[in-house]
Formats: sequence, C-alpha cells, structure tokens
Amino acid sequence: MTKIEYAKGLEGVIAAESEICQIDGANGKLYYRGYSIEDLAQHSSFEETTYLLLNEKLPSKQELADFSIRMRQSRDVSPTIQNMIRDFPRTGSPMELLQSIISYLSSSVEHQIRHSDTCNCRRTLHQIAQMTTVIATYQRFREGKGYVESRPDLSQGANFLYQLRGEEPPDEEGRILDTCLVLHAEHGFNASTFTARVVASTFSTCYCSISAAVGSLAGFLHGGANERVMDMVDEIGSRRNVSPWLDKALSERRKVMGMGHRVYKAKDPRAIVTQGMLEDLARRRGELELFELLKEIETGFRARMEAKGKPIYPNVDFFSGAVYTMLGIPRDLFTPIFAAARSAGWLAHILEQRKDNRLFRPKALFVGPEPRPYVPMEKR
Ligand SMILES: CC(C)(COP(=O)(O)OP(=O)(O)OC[C@H]1O[C@@H](n2cnc3c(N)ncnc32)[C@H](O)[C@@H]1OP(=O)(O)O)[C@@H](O)C(=O)NCCC(=O)NCCS
Repeated sequence: MTKIEYAKGLEGVIAAESEICQIDGANGKLYYRGYSIEDLAQHSSFEETTYLLLNEKLPSKQELADFSIRMRQSRDVSPTIQNMIRDFPRTGSPMELLQSIISYLSSSVEHQIRHSDTCNCRRTLHQIAQMTTVIATYQRFREGKGYVESRPDLSQGANFLYQLRGEEPPDEEGRILDTCLVLHAEHGFNASTFTARVVASTFSTCYCSISAAVGSLAGFLHGGANERVMDMVDEIGSRRNVSPWLDKALSERRKVMGMGHRVYKAKDPRAIVTQGMLEDLARRRGELELFELLKEIETGFRARMEAKGKPIYPNVDFFSGAVYTMLGIPRDLFTPIFAAARSAGWLAHILEQRKDNRLFRPKALFVGPEPRPYVPMEKR
C-alpha cells in the first residue's frame, strides 16, 4: 500500500481536477478558463465573466443578452427578505446576514428542484444576482433609508452602486465596481471554494454550498485583508510617517497588510489592475493622497524586504480597499462584496464537482489516546 503523507492544512495536496482557474504564481498570471485576468478586466463584464465560469465558454451576443436579462430579473429581493435584512441584529456582521439569507433563499425553491442533481442554480442565478442587492439594502437600512429597486439597464457593478446610493453612479464608477467583481470572481482551490465543493460533494443544494463558503470567507485569514489595509492606512496617517512606521512594524515582526501571497511570488495581477483603477479615479477627482500613501508603503516595504533577500509584492487587497473607500463604500462591506463576486466562482466549482462527483472523505492522523477502559464516576 502506498504511504500517504500527512500535509497540515492540505498544503500542496491535489484534492480534485478542475478546468476553471489557472494560477501561475511564479509569473503573476491568472486565467479563468484560459482567458487572462487582464483581458477579462479590460474587455469583459461581471455578467459575461459569470457566464464564462458557469458555461465554460464566452457567450455569443445573444447568449450574453439572454443571460444578462435572467440575472437582472433575479436581482430584487422579496419583501420578506427585506424584512429579514431590516430586522437582522446590528450586532451581527453583514457576512452572517449574507449566510442567513442564502439559506433562506434555498427554502423558497421547490423541493424537487432543490434536490435534483441538475439543480436549478444555473437557471435562477439568485445567489449571484441578489448578493449585491442584499449588501446595498443592509447599508441603506442601517442608515435609515429605504429599499431601492434594481435598474435592469445597469451592469451588476453599476447597479450595486445605484442600489447603495439611490442615484445612478457616473459610468466610470460603475465600470470600476464591475471590474472589481470580475477580479474577485474566481481564484482556484482556496478555503471557501474548497468548502463549497466539499458541501457540493454530498449533493447538498447549491444554496447550502454557497452559504458554507460565505462562512469560510468570513474568517480574517481569507477575506478581510483589504479592510485591514485601510486600518493600517489610518494608523500610519500620512506619507511622512510611512518610513518610521515600516521600520517599527518590521522590527516587531508585524505583517504589512495587503503584501505577500501564498501562491503569487510576483505582483498579483489583480493588484496591478486595481492599482491602475485607483490611480485613474484619484487623478480624475484630484484626490491623490490615499493613492500616494499606498505607493509610498509599497515602495518602502518592498525595498526593506528586498534588502533582506525576500521579495514580497502587493496582493489584490492592497489597493482594492482604497478603491472601495473612494467609491464611498463602508469598510465592513468589503468582504461581503468579495463574497458577491466569488459566488460566481463558487457556483462554477459546485457544478464542476457535481459533474464528476466523489464524496470528499479525507482521514485524520490519529494522535489521541489508545483504547482504555471506561472509568466509573466514583473512581475519577
Ligand atoms: C499571505 C501571507 C500569509 C503569505 O505568507 P507566506 O506564505 O509565509 O509568504 P512568504 O513565504 O513569501 O514569506 C517570506 C517571508 O516574508 C515575510 N512576509 C510575507 N508577507 C509579509 C508581510 N505582509 N509583512 C511582513 N512580512 C511578510 C514572511 O513572514 C517570511 O518571513 P520569514 O522568512 O522571516 O519567515 C503573508 O504574506 C501575509 O500575512 N500577508 C499579509 C496579509 C494579507 O495581505 N493577506 C491577504 C492575502 S490575499
């Protein structure tokens, strides 16, 4: 019998075959179904990218039009869900809200559809289309504002800003948000995607898989680094504090948020796109302070790490929090937006898992006590 090596955290273990996402960490390249993230960011939309992830090919003009109509028709949430959002305890996090709502959506789908192995998630697209609506509505309700119905003439990103603000965003802002969704739509076998696939491997519903994946993304080791980048920016305050702050942080062996990546050993290609969008937005508005502060942190950090022979580059989170901040989005919505984008990738993986399923059932290396006799209470 071949000896199976124990790999803590399954590091380096190949747990399934997948055709969805290719990451070339050494060269800083990312492809969804063979298409580079740079091309998708420049030419595609979140709806088209979702179609690509779910249907394994780019759509024709008609296919995209039909798909977009279906997605846009699925965006609005029912009064019941609006009430759930309104009544959700303000002590809860928006990620917990998303998880609860996705589970609730599952219960509104007919039983036989939910449990057929063809499932209807490719058809209804509710989980993908409605997540941004839930997030925008949560924000509006906590500001004491009303529900804004979605606009079928807007892209997913522009519509999110519209439902959040109650007014149509400038074209370039809608485009930036839509591109952020494209950039976050898929990233291989990370913890949340693996979670979605494990749940899918039991032939549970896609709603159950996605709500589990949202739970996995809620942890700060996975989602949330862009929030922490903005906390770091607040702590540093201004460009002249960057150098002493970095010296102190590194001497205390603190991690500089938004820097470094398990897989990328070059600049994360998504960070390059996000940096460009941030710079554009900042220049157009004549508000360069935040962009320049981040560039100063990047330059100072990289120089210090290179001097130690450890080249470390920005990851996607380094600039994305600043983009969201400039678009007026509160910090605790950054990870929910990530979830809304990644729901497309999660669903693609769920469908792929179902196509050639094998129930995930790894083993643990038992390091507990050997069999021993039960000790009666009076003898303990
Ligand atoms: C993502 C992360 C966990 C990867 O860590 P990793 O796999 O250990 O990275 P590497 O092996 O390339 O690290 C090489 C060295 O650089 C250090 N390093 C890596 N990222 C660093 C960072 N952001 N700040 C300070 N030092 C860092 C490591 O501690 C390691 O030092 P050592 O040789 O003294 O142990 C790490 O970079 C990190 O915590 N980054 C900040 C959090 C973040 O932005 N997360 C979002 C990821 S998408």
